[in-house]
Amino acid sequence: MISHPWRQGLHLEPPQGWLNDPNGLAYFQHRYHVFFQFCPQSAGGVGAKCWGHYESPDLVHWTYTGAPLQPGGLYDLGDAYSGSAVAQGDTLWLYYTGNYKAPGPHDYIHTGRHHNTIRVAFDGRQCQGRKQLLLSNLDYPRHCTLHVRDPKVWQEGQMWWMVLGARDQADRGEVLLYRSPDGEKWSLERELKKADFGYMWECPDCFCLDGQWLLSVSPQGLPHGETCCQNVYQSGYFPLSAAPLEGELGAFAEWDMGFDFYAPQSFAAPDGRRLLVGWMGMPDATYHNPTVPLGWQHCLTMPRELSWKEGRVYQRPAREMEGLCRLWRALPETVEVKTPVRVQARAKGPARLTLAEGLHLEYDPDQRLFAMTFSDSALGGGRTVRRARLEGETLELDLWVDNSSVECYLNGGHTVFSTRFYPIHTPIRLESQGLEGHYAPLRTLQVEEMQES
Ligand code: FRU
Repeated sequence: MISHPWRQGLHLEPPQGWLNDPNGLAYFQHRYHVFFQFCPQSAGGVGAKCWGHYESPDLVHWTYTGAPLQPGGLYDLGDAYSGSAVAQGDTLWLYYTGNYKAPGPHDYIHTGRHHNTIRVAFDGRQCQGRKQLLLSNLDYPRHCTLHVRDPKVWQEGQMWWMVLGARDQADRGEVLLYRSPDGEKWSLERELKKADFGYMWECPDCFCLDGQWLLSVSPQGLPHGETCCQNVYQSGYFPLSAAPLEGELGAFAEWDMGFDFYAPQSFAAPDGRRLLVGWMGMPDATYHNPTVPLGWQHCLTMPRELSWKEGRVYQRPAREMEGLCRLWRALPETVEVKTPVRVQARAKGPARLTLAEGLHLEYDPDQRLFAMTFSDSALGGGRTVRRARLEGETLELDLWVDNSSVECYLNGGHTVFSTRFYPIHTPIRLESQGLEGHYAPLRTLQVEEMQES
């Protein structure tokens, strides 16, 4: 593992190279499994994508075990793109997209790409047996382009379900819903779409949260607003009016209003909690991450516990993370703190918290507007400002500041802002105005690399 002051203490990162989407999230054989899109040889993400793998008994002690899912077979000649996992007895089935771009003058949207839905068995350490081809180009609906990918599979009773993200020939994003009696033979049941809602929907997910069905997608091509859809691509969820087979899509809500959040995936913890992990990054962003010359880029978000209340999803860091808090101290107007650190504060009027002299979190109660602004472009790698409207009179802030990121949970997890930031000096300075609260230094996750025996 690389060592550097910007390496994270609370977030999973690639040992080196590039990371994007979380994949194959599951609890299996008494362990949490977190796979991720991984390009070990290039921090810029140039080259074939495989799946890297972390496991943990408790979400705090993590072991990086390598990259057990590699492309290069008949059906995944190019990349092992995103997908999911389902535990069945001693097997964790990994479902993913085998991607291959044929050489030639192709646009890879209409010609030149193979996009296979594949599954392979994982025994907790390694992939076992053959990669089974489940669906290939000719199996998807004719009106879809060659952008159909990212299978999210789940089981309900005896039935298996799968959603795939897609782009149709008229450049409209949609989700394909499949059903299977055995996880192998799939039939298309339904297409879920919304008029005028982007040209491609990546990384779909579908689950029932506290009795409410949700369809999560990462749409590309939405128009940008002042307080919504501010990033190049978005990710969010549609509440469904009924189970996925019949339900209609309600109003889209974004998962995270910050600069760095995309392609999240959820899974069920053994105690029934629904946990969500996102990629703390943004494809094709205009801003950058200065870790690239240092040999790595990107991390995952902390796992977030989801709950459904008053018509929306609330998010909070998984409660296992709370155990990392050390002694709480009152938050003074100015203090130098070591990261990682957590800050909890409240405001009744206008409020401002500045981190590392250049990242400002501000609340304007008259407009109920929260803004995350960088005044120092080096600190933010070119990030500028993100805004959101909040509900309620007061502001409640729960800030998890890692060595090079901030996850900011507002008003009990009603709204979340995530961003990377790159402080030059540590400890960092916190300057607060109009806030009352406390802060606590945090212990870090225990992350190790598996030693070959
Ligand atoms: C989302 C995504 C997925 C794809 C993967 C490739 O970030 O584009 O649609 O499977 O990344 O790494």
